[in-house]
Amino acid sequence: MTRFRLAVLGGDGIGPEVVAEAVRVLRAIESTTDHRFELTEDLVGGAAIDAHGTALRRETVALARRSDAVIFGAVGGPKWDDPRAAVRPEQAILGLRAALGTFANLRPARMQPALVHLSPLKAEIVQGADVLFIRELVAGTYFARPKKYWQDARGTWRAVDTTAYTEPQVERTVRMAFELARGRRKKVHVADKQNVMATSRLWRDVASRLAADYADVEFQAILTDALAMHLLYRPSAFDVIVTDNLFGDLITDEAAVLAGSMGLMPSASLGSARNRHGGYRGLYEPIHGTAPDIAGKGVANPMAAIQSLALLLRYSLRLEREARAVERAVDDAIELGLRTPDIARPGERTATTTAVGEAVVEAVLRELRS
Ligand code: IPM
Ligand code: MG
Repeated sequence: MTRFRLAVLGGDGIGPEVVAEAVRVLRAIESTTDHRFELTEDLVGGAAIDAHGTALRRETVALARRSDAVIFGAVGGPKWDDPRAAVRPEQAILGLRAALGTFANLRPARMQPALVHLSPLKAEIVQGADVLFIRELVAGTYFARPKKYWQDARGTWRAVDTTAYTEPQVERTVRMAFELARGRRKKVHVADKQNVMATSRLWRDVASRLAADYADVEFQAILTDALAMHLLYRPSAFDVIVTDNLFGDLITDEAAVLAGSMGLMPSASLGSARNRHGGYRGLYEPIHGTAPDIAGKGVANPMAAIQSLALLLRYSLRLEREARAVERAVDDAIELGLRTPDIARPGERTATTTAVGEAVVEAVLRELRS
């Protein structure tokens, strides 16, 4: 029997609802294998601000650090929306990424054949799209200093953000892209703005140098603005795309168009730290956010959270068989027509969050028992 320790941080809005379904899937795995999952829940984001006055308590960081992996929902909401407030929900996720050193954010976007109708793109374009984005997550524009917004002596408002990278920061992220490409279609694009940005020239130089170590992987650099267009014109030309923090944030929201719904986009954030099981000590979150407009209504799509769990099983717990079972179970639920409103056809009967969770649980049990 193997015991795994997981931190469960549901957060705000639909975060706790979708995470609860992922936990149900985990319990189903427990019931039919000899893996045991010890789960510890805590508040983060707006919920933690309300309860403790801070988005991310020191105790929560310690919990995340001693866990084998972290299941994360989403943080934020209208109640805590003032971007100038000193205490903001986003500090929870940014703080956890920094504290865990999870520099590589994996965001797979795959079009399920049964869901082609969801995309605003033509079926023949989006059919077969299967792209793995790797976004640098703990440096660059969102973290580098100086970062400030102030009034100078003449009374003029000024603001500055800094984009800064070091060669090791770029190298570890790009290396992850090449390694993962080897298990896929062996093609890596680095996306940058090397025509205008010094940090982008560093990215391109480091990536080009590393490409020589991976002669079996096809490598190409592309300007991020051009990529934004090509992704929608010819998504199947891409396999693995690696890029910096800011570009990766933008381009992966665009990529939701390739998966059909934000409700289907999982993510894994990995660093170099390993857990007691030899896997990555990672953080796993759906990328859809808190969706305050549908929170509490039982209609949120738990599939991104459940697929994030599959990534957790694969990368942190090294349970590949269970990871595949969960992924196939999600596909099964979609094929069986269990669809929350975000992925239903007009007029089609829709399923609730828990009904989808239950269907996935049933399918996982079938997969693991067969
Ligand atoms: C994301 C989100 C976050 C980010 C926000 C909430 C800080 O947009 O995970 O993509 O930009 O990293
Ligand atoms: Mg984002």
